[in-house]
This record gives sequence, C-alpha cells and structure tokens, in this order.
Amino acid sequence: MDEIVIDGGGKLQGRVKISGAKNSALPILAATLLTEETSVIENVPHLRDVHTMVKILRSLGVKVRMATDRIEVSPGKFNKCVAPYKLVSTMRASICVLGPLLAHLGRAQISLPGGCVIGPRPIDLHIKGIEALGADVKIEHGYIVARSKQLVGSDIYLGGHFGPSVLATATTMMAATLAKGKTVIESCACEPELIDLAEFLRKMGARIKGVGSPRVEVDGVERLKGAHHTITPDRIEAGTYMVAAAITRGDVEVEGCRFDHLTAVIDRLQQAGVKITKCANGLRVRAPGKLRPVDVTTLSYPGFPTDMQAQMMMLMSVTEGISVITEKVFPDRFLHVSELNRMGSHIFLEGSSAIVHGVKRLSGAPVMASDLRASAALILAGLVAEGRTDVSRVYHLDRGYERIEDKLRALGAKIKRVKK
Ligand code: EPU
Repeated sequence: MDEIVIDGGGKLQGRVKISGAKNSALPILAATLLTEETSVIENVPHLRDVHTMVKILRSLGVKVRMATDRIEVSPGKFNKCVAPYKLVSTMRASICVLGPLLAHLGRAQISLPGGCVIGPRPIDLHIKGIEALGADVKIEHGYIVARSKQLVGSDIYLGGHFGPSVLATATTMMAATLAKGKTVIESCACEPELIDLAEFLRKMGARIKGVGSPRVEVDGVERLKGAHHTITPDRIEAGTYMVAAAITRGDVEVEGCRFDHLTAVIDRLQQAGVKITKCANGLRVRAPGKLRPVDVTTLSYPGFPTDMQAQMMMLMSVTEGISVITEKVFPDRFLHVSELNRMGSHIFLEGSSAIVHGVKRLSGAPVMASDLRASAALILAGLVAEGRTDVSRVYHLDRGYERIEDKLRALGAKIKRVKK
C-alpha cells in the first residue's frame, strides 16, 4: 500500500488547477443508465471512486470507454440489474445506480453498503423516495431488491433526522424522470452537485424544475436520450487547497473553482483572517498575518460542508486560541482527531463538537488515514509539521483527490508518494 511522505515547512506558492467534482461525476455516470443511447461526460476526475463506478457500469453489461478526462457510456440493451457487494462495499455512492436501474429496467438489486468510518449511513430516505413512486422494495440476503413495472409520480417529503440527503434526493429525482406523471419532492438537498446532475438530466430530455431549492418538481417523460456534459469543478478539492495556502501562510491561485459554490468556506476563512480575492480564473488565497480562531458548524448546503470539516479543524489546530467545530451532518465524523493529536494538536471531543486549542507547532509523525477527508487533513498537517510525516493507507485519499502529491509539489511542498 502506498504512503505519502511529507517534509513540513515552507509556504505554498503558485497556481493549482481544480479537477471535476467527484460527487457530481458519480451520480451523473449512474444517470447514463437511464437511456440506451450513448452519453459523453467530460472533465471527469481520475479517482478510485470514479473507477469503481465504471466497474459497476461494466458489470451491468454497459460499454464504457475512458480517455483522459472523458468517459463515454453506451448502455445499449443492457439488462443486468445487480450492483454486487464486492463493489458496493468499497464505495457507498454505488447506491447512485438504484434510481436509474429501477426507472429504466423496472428492477434493481443493490448490495446494502454496510458500515462506514464516518458513522451510520442509513439508506431509509432512498427507499422512502422510490417507494413513494410505487416501487416494491425488500431487503433480501443483504441486498435492496426494488421492482416496479411503471413508476408513478407522487408528492414526497424527503427530510431526515440530519437534514436533507444529497444522494437520496438524486435517487428520487432520477427515478422520477421516467415515472408516469408529476413528482414533487419536498426537503431536497440543494448541493451544487445536484444542480449539475439536473443539468445533465435536462440535456437527456428530463423535465425538472427547482433543483438547488428544497422543492423539486419532475414531470415524467417516456424516454430519455444520450447527452454530452462537462462536470462542474470540485468545491471540496478547491476548499482543501485554500486551506493548504492558508495553513502554510502561502499565496496560491486556485484555478477553475466557483466562488458561488464556496461562500460558507470563504466566509469562515475570511473570519479567520485569510485574504481571498477573485482572480481571472478562480480565487487567490493568501494568509500574510496571524490567523484568528473561528467556530464552525457543518450543515447541508449552503452551510459549511461536512467534507471540509477535517481540513478546517486542521487549520484551527495551528491557530492560537480556542475554536469549536460542531458536526451536524455526520455527528461521528471525527476519526482524524486522534491522529492529529499524535502530531501535537490539542483537540477534545464533546459529543458532536470538537474543542480545538490552537498550538504553535506540530511535529511530524507516522499517521494513518481513516477516511477520505481525514486523509486530506493529515496531509495538510504534514505540510506545517516539523520534520517528516508518513501518511499510510492513502487509498482513502485516492478515492477523492486527483494527483494531490503532484499538485502540492508544483506549489512547492516537499511531498512524495512511496510505493510499498
Ligand atoms: N441520511 C439518512 N437517511 C438516508 C440517507 C442519509 O438519515 O437514507 C443521513 C446521513 O446519515 C447523514 C445525512 O443524512 O446524517 C446526510 O447524508 P447524505 O445522504 O446527504 O450523504 P450522501 O448523499 O450519502 C454525499 C456525499 C458525501 C457528503 C454528504 C454530505 C456523494 C457521493 N457523497 O453523501 O461525500 O459528505 O453527501 O454532504 O455525493 C466525501 O466526498 O468525502 C463524502 C463523504
């Protein structure tokens, strides 16, 4: 298993180009199953999760061609409907194929994803969405087995205990595109990746209104066609490089990111004293002076993203003073805390909040990545720690960050991947 080795110290300077969003690419690739025709998706990031989704499509009998950042999907007359445990257990977002398979083939058999290091990840809202559209759903032998001869539009309330669900909104919206009649979904998630998915679905011929707001309306159509789409930039990758610039007191242009997708992150960073300005093709991020502690609460979009919680905690852990970071989306998503503390951070957990006592310096250490965003926080810690940091289990990082070591090295970081 590869390791990332970092020699800490030094400012990051220069430009970094942001890749396409993982969390757009995954549901959009799944949505290509809604038609027999060929779809072409551009700006697809090279990530382990994307490769897993391609494996799922191929295991269904679908033709997939990949070239640089372009993926061409030709479903043709595929008729397999099973997403097996072997693939689903490596990526929860495999659930994205549930809605499209059910709507297009009338049946779907998706392995239950099982445990997850960031806490419980129920799928009740996905099931609620498709049942409301008339699907018959059973749990059999560790699989969700859903069937319907013809889905029928319906009024659905999709709110959950922890707010709206991004992928349950996607599942229900995708299934409703081929349902008979009108569907109104209330309490939808509003994430930019859902807007990107809806744009792709509209290009396929779907009739969808209101995406990006809590109320989405879908008028079902008889069939959809293939479409061409370019994936929106990854706001979480962008936010991670913004923190990397801030934490090293650097000066970095984050190219290709969208200001309007990052307002909550920008707000917290600016409150902390980070200078952020719009530039020709993105954002310039500098942190010339002393930073201040800020409190952060994660919420669904447009609130502060849970996928930036670990990185923001890392920044606060080397910002003198006390800050409180509260996780409202995945209340147990704190596995990074013990590894950061091994590097000299002073972070205490109190329920779903972390109390962060900023310290002057961290010291490099061997640490273990536990999930995707936790891995990013450990890489950030390595950039500022004294001495050498070895981050192991980097396959988590490879799920969601395209060539992170190359991009950071180009900004001046002393970082390399060691093949083991
Ligand atoms: N939830 C339920 N029932 C459900 C589904 C979700 O109670 O049926 C709860 C979850 O347990 C959680 C909350 O709802 O407390 C929100 O979870 P959500 O369903 O929105 O998460 P998701 O759609 O499975 C996506 C991203 C995650 C990101 C979350 C929240 C993709 C592929 N994944 O997951 O991304 O953290 O939304 O923004 O879009 C990551 O990229 O590192 C990542 C984990």
